[in-house]
Amino acid sequence: MVALIEAHSFPNLKVSDHPLVKHKVSLLSARETEPQLFRALVNELTVLLVYEATREVGLNTGTYETPMETTVGYEIAPSIGLVPILRAGLGMVEAAQGLLPKSTVYHLGIYRDEKSHLPVSYYNKLPAVFTDDVMILLDPMLATAGSATAAASTLKQCGAKEIIFVGIIAAPEGVQRMQEEHADIKLHVARLDRQLDENKYIRPGLGDAGDRLFGTLRR
Ligand code: PRP
Ligand code: URA
Repeated sequence: MVALIEAHSFPNLKVSDHPLVKHKVSLLSARETEPQLFRALVNELTVLLVYEATREVGLNTGTYETPMETTVGYEIAPSIGLVPILRAGLGMVEAAQGLLPKSTVYHLGIYRDEKSHLPVSYYNKLPAVFTDDVMILLDPMLATAGSATAAASTLKQCGAKEIIFVGIIAAPEGVQRMQEEHADIKLHVARLDRQLDENKYIRPGLGDAGDRLFGTLRR
């Protein structure tokens, strides 16, 4: 018997309670959802989640001209870096970049070894030292959090000051681990699922996010 873990058990976790998010993540995780719709839903969910995740970023205030008069306006103050964890994080880049057109994108390739379930780093396009104020880590799945904790440690080694994680489905085990190893990182997800299974897949989950995004699922 598995005890249901509530989102409010984790102070670093924000699970969206928006009806659109609940609707779209249900469709996303359905077995029959094909890659084309899956990609569209990842895109739409990323817009909704990044919107929430950036709620507290600072603004610069200044004046500008409308056709009628001078008025007060705002612009996003911090410079923002987006870090998709390849492969599946790639599915979230376009949406996040659309909302934050001045952001810089840094790619980080990490896959989970099939047997050990440990993260293996294979590509790193991060600068030696970040000049960005805020980094947004993008990966649809937070399972054991091996990949996310490794990515966060790498970002911190490059001088990242503030990191926000935006994902789609998280397991309680992964959220707990992020809490223990990177308590300063706020996690924004669409759904907190029940548990990991013996293969460290999220249940109920959606299966392998990379395979479903890119159509590489073996049937
Ligand atoms: C998936 C997912 C995360 C990771 C989550 O990637 O996109 O990066 O697994 O699992 P974890 O929290 O236990 O580390 P995967 O290793 O399948 O690589 P892929 O995106 O290239 O398919
Ligand atoms: N990676 C995935 O893509 N899905 C899981 O359930 C766990 C890790």
